[in-house]
Amino acid sequence: MQRLQGRRIVITGGASGIGRATAALFVREGAGVAILDRAEDAVQAVTNELDCTGLAVDVTDPQSVATAFRGVADALGGLDGLVNAAGIFSTNGLAETSPEQFQRILSVNVTGTFLVTQAAAPLMREAGRGTIVNIGSGVGLIPTGPGSTAYVASKGAVIAMTKAIAMELAPAIRVNVVCPGAVDTPMTAGFMRDATGAPNPAVGARYALGRAGQPDELAAAILFLTSDESSFVTGTTLAVDGGRTYH
Ligand code: NAI
Repeated sequence: MQRLQGRRIVITGGASGIGRATAALFVREGAGVAILDRAEDAVQAVTNELDCTGLAVDVTDPQSVATAFRGVADALGGLDGLVNAAGIFSTNGLAETSPEQFQRILSVNVTGTFLVTQAAAPLMREAGRGTIVNIGSGVGLIPTGPGSTAYVASKGAVIAMTKAIAMELAPAIRVNVVCPGAVDTPMTAGFMRDATGAPNPAVGARYALGRAGQPDELAAAILFLTSDESSFVTGTTLAVDGGRTYH
């Protein structure tokens, strides 16, 4: 029995990393999937590989989001689920972060999540059911150390916003946030591996499980929060971080 049979789901950031792994798993679990991402070539590559729809979007632009959701309604015939995985990252701390960079990171990670959720909610209300999974970060719960000022601020906001939206959209629509530890994706390529491509031991040392995560391990948690197996779960924060927050 496929766990997402008959479900119609949008995944932002679905052209890469965690979003892409989630799209692949959701297609295997029987969902109709539309990936929304600004990386048009990568969207094309994923739709060539997976049985899913791809639409170009800039999640920070209300017009672009509105156009994409008209495409979603046409392609999927409605909507029962959303995964907000589009995001950008910077390790810059307080002194190195320009006002423009701070604004840009908040704009993609927070405003983008807000705009896409606002566009998706009416379609899910129409369907009479829905799930939303936002991607926060372990650093939005407990920072790993100095740095990443704008990124940490943005992920703290995503975690708090998830709870507010969960209360507003209940009971028909469940809204939760997954907080990954370091995951091996293009976003983290700069610090996850050394010059030879071997895992950076300093990253693994932060985790009780002694290693970083893989995108499939996040996709499995996102599947749980999207499927009916989590039917009594809303407004929750699920850390999928190899035990970092308790290590
Ligand atoms: P990734 O860089 O592999 O994928 C992010 C995707 O978002 C890319 O395909 C990119 O084109 C898309 N995107 C960026 N800005 C966009 C915009 N304005 N409009 C539309 N699409 C846009 O990153 P990854 O690692 O898969 O990250 C996914 C989410 O997980 C992000 O929110 C990230 O902050 C979060 N996260 C990742 C962690 C990691 O260690 N990889 C750890 C904690 C959280």
